[in-house]
Amino acid sequence: MRIAIILGTRPEIIKMAPVIRELEKRQGNYFVLHTGQHYSYNLDKVFFERLKLPQAKYNLEVGSGSHAEQTGKIIIGVEKVLQEETPDIILVEGDTNSVLASALAAVKLHIKVGHVEAGLRSYDKQMPEEINRILTDHCADYLFAPTEKARTILLGEGIPEDKIFVTGNTIVDAIYQNLEIARQGENILDALSLKPQEYFVVTLHRQENVDNRTRFASILEGLDKVAADFHLPVVYPVHPRSRKRMSEFNLEPRNFTLIDPVDFLSFLQLGSNARLILTDSGGVQEEACILSVPCVTLRDNTERPETIEIGSNILAGASPDRILECSRVMLGRENDWESPFGDGKAGGRIVDILEGKR
Ligand code: UD1
Ligand code: UDP
Repeated sequence: MRIAIILGTRPEIIKMAPVIRELEKRQGNYFVLHTGQHYSYNLDKVFFERLKLPQAKYNLEVGSGSHAEQTGKIIIGVEKVLQEETPDIILVEGDTNSVLASALAAVKLHIKVGHVEAGLRSYDKQMPEEINRILTDHCADYLFAPTEKARTILLGEGIPEDKIFVTGNTIVDAIYQNLEIARQGENILDALSLKPQEYFVVTLHRQENVDNRTRFASILEGLDKVAADFHLPVVYPVHPRSRKRMSEFNLEPRNFTLIDPVDFLSFLQLGSNARLILTDSGGVQEEACILSVPCVTLRDNTERPETIEIGSNILAGASPDRILECSRVMLGRENDWESPFGDGKAGGRIVDILEGKR
């Protein structure tokens, strides 16, 4: 079976890495197609380098643009490559424009689609990611659900049972494969003069949070309150979308340490030693849970409800007082939950299923 791995953004590279490693180990017949949705060094190449991933065979270099422009360019570019390479299946991961566009290109060519991290729902169609997830799942022939809950959601939407496979989330594999390496390497905590358990980590980049000045300012005010209340430093690796908006909106958070986005190994060091993580990222909510670090989610909903149910995460929205209150709640909780995201063998399971071994 010839497999096209298609990816385009930071989280897709990180979460697809365990599948790529597994295919490399088994000398699988595959190639990697990068859409070029992310292209800045610290959102893209740094992950290939630090995670020692093979170079993509193709890069469409679509770059940034409106949703239609970006999605349209990816569909056109992916279609051309698929027509040349004629793979049996494409594999995509997550919920970005790269994922939906690739699934659309493949399904119309009658090439099978495998969706890693299928079945997540925030039930908020204002989020571009929610549209991407739903449509990709309904194009897919293989739906790799990370949890039983995701499987139940897919069954509820009428997806046949024999297309759904509960594999665990490949982020667990990525963490297990890299945490030890991260601990042995140069430590970003030293570079930032941070002490374990004595700082907070923030990530914030969602369109609905940072493209709206009032909402972005309100969240930053909440984070200020948290820093002041606990007298602890806040480190925020700033996504380029947020950096751009901060400058456009004239928002200058003075009480945080703003840094450029960091590589995955450095982020694991930062995240695993933090007292608390405050985030609107999907992947970071999972990582906090797996690393036993309490998490405050700066959103009104989450497509990772398992984290709320087991107590590793809480939804704070964008109100400053609620962000502070939720931080107090999470810091008062025991970090004794069990991660629902699997055993770190999802990559192997996915390749086994594609090879017909399961
Ligand atoms: C995308 C995904 C989002 C995911 C995030 C991961 C969609 C709809 N959104 O959001 O789900 O959580 O990736 O990080 O697919 N930019 C750069 N360099 C880059 C890429 C982007 O400077 O390499 C800047 C550009 O100004 C661009 C903006 O960031 O306009 C937004 O980029 P885009 O790819 O549209 O969406 P993300 O916010 O990265
Ligand atoms: N991450 C990283 N460096 C950073 C911030 C995040 O490597 O400076 C990683 C983080 O460990 C997680 C992933 O990026 O695995 C999450 O990606 P992002 O928040 O961009 O997207 P989302 O998961 O929200 O789609």
